[in-house]
Amino acid sequence: MNKEEKIIESIWDELELSLTESGHPFHIFSIASINNGQPDARNVVLRGVERKKNMINFHTDSRSKKVSQLEEQADICALFYDKKKKVQLRVYGKTSYEKDIQKIENKWQNSKRMSKLCYLNKYPPGQNISNPKDYLYDDIALENIDKGLSNFSIVNINIKSIDWLFLNHKGHERMLIELIKKDSYEYNWIAP
Ligand SMILES: Cc1cc2nc3c(=O)[nH]c(=O)nc-3n(C[C@H](O)[C@H](O)[C@H](O)COP(=O)(O)O)c2cc1C
Repeated sequence: MNKEEKIIESIWDELELSLTESGHPFHIFSIASINNGQPDARNVVLRGVERKKNMINFHTDSRSKKVSQLEEQADICALFYDKKKKVQLRVYGKTSYEKDIQKIENKWQNSKRMSKLCYLNKYPPGQNISNPKDYLYDDIALENIDKGLSNFSIVNINIKSIDWLFLNHKGHERMLIELIKKDSYEYNWIAP
């Protein structure tokens, strides 16, 4: 394996590791989308990595602003930083919504109760409310926690390219990795 191939392999290894290793720096990442021509960004949790499909995913409320923004324009930039390894990833891709009902239900069933509660909110995320706790679910809603499934969605990021930056005191290194076709990458070293 050459250096470039080792780098892309290590990227996938670390993304996968973040799903199981507590406190892994790639567990939380930022996603940027376009909101009527203006940039918008927020943090999400990395929930799935499919190396063979060049795909990663996160969970969200289908009523949220990011969903309507990504439906309008599917382009996304996801930003990761590993402070210890001094590696930044800028991941570019297009989003698509998971359609496989079985997969969605399995993910829902395997979600922690605390995560499920977020999807029970009475009001869609971003809606004006009169006091900070107005959105909270009542006891009846808590008894029917699985109703949240109707608001639960999995957003897939189909990766097109990755801008990899390694901060190194002997000289930073930066490489653009582009996905040409399945299992085939093009590597270009670029000035950091
Ligand atoms: C550490 C952290 C993790 C988060 N994880 C998620 C997540 O996995 N999915 C999600 O929809 N929102 C998550 N949020 C909340 C979002 O950052 C955001 O506030 C919310 O989804 C509304 O965003 P929107 O209006 O752009 O849709 C997280 C926030 C923080 C601070």
